[in-house]
Amino acid sequence: MDKIIVEGGRSLKGEVKIGGAKNAALPILVSSLLADGENTYHNVPKLQDIESVKSLLSHLGAKIESEGNTVRIDASGLCNSEAPYDLVRKMRASVLVLGPLVARLKKARVSLPGGCAIGARPINLHLKGLAQLGASIELNHGYVEASAERLKGNDIYFDIPTVTGTENLMMAAALAEGVTTLRNAAREPEIVALANILNKMGAKIKGVGNSVITIEGVSALHPVTASIIPDRIEAGTFMVASMLTGGDVTITDCEPDHLRGVINKLKITGADISVEGKSIRVKGGQNGIESVDVKTLPYPGFPTDMQAQFMVLMSVAKGLSIISETIFENRFIHVSELKRMGADIIISGNSAVIKGVPMLSAAPVMATDLRASASLILAGLAARGTTEVHRVYHLDRGYEAIEKKFAALGAAIRRAKE
Ligand code: EPU
Repeated sequence: MDKIIVEGGRSLKGEVKIGGAKNAALPILVSSLLADGENTYHNVPKLQDIESVKSLLSHLGAKIESEGNTVRIDASGLCNSEAPYDLVRKMRASVLVLGPLVARLKKARVSLPGGCAIGARPINLHLKGLAQLGASIELNHGYVEASAERLKGNDIYFDIPTVTGTENLMMAAALAEGVTTLRNAAREPEIVALANILNKMGAKIKGVGNSVITIEGVSALHPVTASIIPDRIEAGTFMVASMLTGGDVTITDCEPDHLRGVINKLKITGADISVEGKSIRVKGGQNGIESVDVKTLPYPGFPTDMQAQFMVLMSVAKGLSIISETIFENRFIHVSELKRMGADIIISGNSAVIKGVPMLSAAPVMATDLRASASLILAGLAARGTTEVHRVYHLDRGYEAIEKKFAALGAAIRRAKE
């Protein structure tokens, strides 16, 4: 297993190029199951989660070739309708195959993902929606067993806007008979990206990016060539890093429009931010970091996937701030590690009250989930001394070569074997 060693105290300077979005790539690679023939996807990030979804798709019978950041998937040989526990437990997003498998093979047997470090994360809304499309659903031995001769369009209301739930049902409804309306649908850019690709495959989806999506089912889709949108969370992580270290970093190949919530909060902290085309330049303020309250919300609100990174920034800001997490019930697991580095944080319910300290102090810390891992690296960049972040396999699930990108910006950071 690897660890990351960070020596803190250097200002980051230079340019960093953002890769394809993990959370767009995952459903898009899965959407290849919806058509016969070879799909080509460019700008696919090289991540552990992408390897996991590729293993799952090939287990289901798809042929996959990868070269650099291009992945080709041909699901003409789709024959297996079972996503086993061993593959699903590695990555919850595996549940995205449920809708496409029922639509294509008339049945699916997908392991229930179970809880995870950041919350219970049930999939009841995926299942309820699929049932409303006419699938019969049973839970047996830890598996969801779903079947339908042909799914039928319906009017579906999500109690909570769920990202992968919206994606799962959008894929299922694309091949259903008749019109499906998804209400209170999630509006994340990754959902828009998936819908654009489904439409390119011949689907008839309207309204994405709004909370009401209509999908007119078609009888078949065809393969496509497409590119994955930039990762807004990777971009946001580097933006925070620049501010945190009093740096001057230009984040290139990103989509500033997807980052409005983060840009807005960072400006309040005193960051000097300029946006030009697909680049964002973030200069750390001369007067330290101002504190600001943050509440995570579904898009276009402030993303929960940036909460841990922002908490590090607030840990060394002037004064008090309150960060409220409204999406996941247990997404403060990084707090105890940050406290070991000298952060002054008190948790009360779903809020964290953070009293900025002048400096964090390096310590050995343990990564617990993907974004928490990124926050510990950020803390290490800002701390006095050398921080060792253990269990970085969480980090490799969602950030491509993050230590190399930070090193190129002047950070003293390296990966080592435990
Ligand atoms: N929820 C339910 N029932 C459901 C589905 C969701 O109660 O059937 C609840 C969840 O427990 C949560 C809320 O609804 O409290 C929102 O969860 P959502 O379903 O939107 O999350 P997700 O689709 O499982 C995706 C991302 C996460 C990101 C969240 C929120 C992917 C593959 N994952 O998860 O990304 O945090 O949306 O934006 O797209 C990450 O990349 O580190 C990550 C965790």
